[in-house]
Amino acid sequence: ASRSAGRQTTKKKQKKKKRRKSPSQDKEAGSAHFSALFVCLLSLTLIQEVQLKPETKKPVRLFTEEELQRHDGREEGQPILMAVKGVVFDVSKGKEFYGRGAPYNALVGKDSTRAVAKMSLAPEDLTSDTTGLTEEQLESLESVFEGTYKAKYPIVGYTASRILNKDGSPNDDFKPEDQPHFKIRDEF
Ligand code: HEM
Repeated sequence: ASRSAGRQTTKKKQKKKKRRKSPSQDKEAGSAHFSALFVCLLSLTLIQEVQLKPETKKPVRLFTEEELQRHDGREEGQPILMAVKGVVFDVSKGKEFYGRGAPYNALVGKDSTRAVAKMSLAPEDLTSDTTGLTEEQLESLESVFEGTYKAKYPIVGYTASRILNKDGSPNDDFKPEDQPHFKIRDEF
């Protein structure tokens, strides 16, 4: 017991020693504070610069109907694409749903918004047209769009209906969908 008491007193002394700073240590601490201040000021300036820049619009890829059609799962090894609400998804990793001969193959190679909203595979519903959809169908569309497509498949572009106005001019209200969990450029 006395040996352990002795050890404790030496430990206490060591702790006391640690707390006392030499002049060179004080200098070091001072320069560390100065560096931290410098880094803070620098990042503040950078943040302000970034905020002052106008919102830059990243270019997005526009898919024509013909381009989409070429990605309907027919060709082995080609990406399988499908649009919902004018947003083009690469659904290749859902090959068991969308590949050649798979149950939902009819939905790919086109914008199938109406079919998704109505949970229908009827040929007349394989279109982007949302005319006359019920509130319930529109809610279902939103939930599958967010919960399945946006969550599961990378966005690779948009259809003209989403990016352009009817006269072909750019739609100024266009905003790309947010999909932070994918590195979109790397996927296609
Ligand atoms: C008898 C009728 C149907 C049955 C039993 C059925 C069953 C299923 C099952 C088991 C899944 C997989 C769920 C999962 O693994 O997360 C699924 C997904 C799905 N179903 Fe159906 N389904 C039917 C009809 C339809 C129809 C008519 C459509 C029309 C659009 C449809 C569209 C979808 C879609 C979009 C998915 C998500 C696929 C994905 O994750 O990419 N289903 N269905």
